[in-house]
Amino acid sequence: MSNEPHGLARNASNYGDRELALYLRRSFAASMGYSRDALSRRTVGIADTASDLNNCHRSIPDLIEAVKRGVMLEGGLPLAFPTVSLCEPSLTPCSMHFRNLMALDTEAMVSAQPLDSVVLVGGCDKTVPAQLMAAISADVPAVMLVTGPMSANRYMGERLAACTDCRRFWSQYRAGNVSAERIAVIEEQLAATAGTCGVMGTASTMACVVAALGFMPLEGASAPAVHADRLRIAEAAGRLCMSKTLRRPSEVMSLKALENGMRVILALGGSTNAVVHLAAIAGRAGLEFDLKRFDAMSDETPVLVDLKPTGDGYMEDFHYAGGMRALLWELRDLLHLDATDYEGRTLGERIGAEAPWVDRAYIRARETPVSAVGGLVTLYGSLAPDGAILKRSAATPSLFEHEAECLVFDGLEDLAARIDGDDLPVTPNTILILKNAGPLSPYGMPEAGHLPIPQKLARAGVKDMVRMSDCRMSGTAYGTVVLHIAPEAAAGGPLALVESGDRVRLSIKNRSLDLLVDEATLAARRARWSPRARPARGWDRLVHDQVLQAPRGADLRFLTASGE
Ligand code: FES
Repeated sequence: MSNEPHGLARNASNYGDRELALYLRRSFAASMGYSRDALSRRTVGIADTASDLNNCHRSIPDLIEAVKRGVMLEGGLPLAFPTVSLCEPSLTPCSMHFRNLMALDTEAMVSAQPLDSVVLVGGCDKTVPAQLMAAISADVPAVMLVTGPMSANRYMGERLAACTDCRRFWSQYRAGNVSAERIAVIEEQLAATAGTCGVMGTASTMACVVAALGFMPLEGASAPAVHADRLRIAEAAGRLCMSKTLRRPSEVMSLKALENGMRVILALGGSTNAVVHLAAIAGRAGLEFDLKRFDAMSDETPVLVDLKPTGDGYMEDFHYAGGMRALLWELRDLLHLDATDYEGRTLGERIGAEAPWVDRAYIRARETPVSAVGGLVTLYGSLAPDGAILKRSAATPSLFEHEAECLVFDGLEDLAARIDGDDLPVTPNTILILKNAGPLSPYGMPEAGHLPIPQKLARAGVKDMVRMSDCRMSGTAYGTVVLHIAPEAAAGGPLALVESGDRVRLSIKNRSLDLLVDEATLAARRARWSPRARPARGWDRLVHDQVLQAPRGADLRFLTASGE
């Protein structure tokens, strides 16, 4: 047995007298009413991200009670502590701008406090990747716990759940097909229970990926937020954290685990954002998310899950259809079944030897996939020398091969000011481009890549157009949308040089994205380009100085495993 200090004896404050430090720590902890017995136990930290500004986390107080119960059933001392919490629509310029801040905060608190292990309780889009990035960097034994998806509402004969339905109704409202009165009513019906967005958006995709990587039980990815199973999963997480054999993230995160995570994103028809987050998670472990390998995997990995925004179902349907176990069973010949989880169990053992029960309405067989190929592709070319992403499972096949003049918006203010103008020089064939919205831009890579269809075209019935940008798109959105163009415009990538009227060519068949402008013209534009001013202070300045491009997960350089 290890002689390493445990519980409150771990990570003593440094006064130059360790015994004094521990005496003071016990004394102050005793002021909270703990007995000497309680203070002698192993400690399990619980990262508490409940916040009045985070609706997706509103069930966290109940989950923490259940985690504590699990810890105490095993004889440990549970200690919840607050960290940064991020809710997708609650932050400006966007939640992505603060994902690395949450990771930095969580890593520091997990590393510095007297914790033998930790349960990281998250759920909303950025919180789960931030917590796993933190856990990997801190390398403290950890179990991930998510709040789980919201349940779909019933409204006038329809099922509704954030947020594919939000976008569908908003598009209809913009096109003049839904009244202001009706959109106001719908606003209150889109997210009717606790939990994260109820479709295969970023939060759901990341929960499934984290389970596949081995940081969470498989059923933990999809059990609905309001189901009693969710509380039992929380209790089990507390018990797990008391296991002496709980492994450190560095023992779980491997290239095989990473490739399993990549496979799962593809088979889910998962969110494009998961690519950025998994790249950042990989970077914390000293691994590389290889976009070309991901693209090759996409051609051999069918989409098997029939959920919005790609298909029809909601996350609760996925769960009741068999969830991750059923999905991984279908994919088993494409997975590294010897990758191991937090307990050292192989993925093959976790899936089991028997075919699980499955509802084929939502989790298809390999012979009858939703799509024979994976949901995402990567593109390279003169407009994206370091790559870009497109969700082909949510795109319009007639736009897969498309060459046209582009219309450029320089930043979000320009987009908002002009997109709905009656005189906007645009046809359904025009390629809409948004530049200067990447991770280095003042906008911080928001989910603005799903540019609205210009109102005059939306009213004429246009549902999709080719759109391109260096920012992201909500995992709940759909359309022929090229994202994460790298290098971004703010870093001086070719995107910075694009002007309205240039011809651009997208070819999904060739995986290419090209700017059809001669080199002399581009050289003249490059000579006129200048980088944005360095922010004066604070977090914005640190991001400006350190943020990496999308293919490296938009992490901060000094927080990656190599620091480079
Ligand atoms: Fe939190 Fe969608 S806004 S998961």
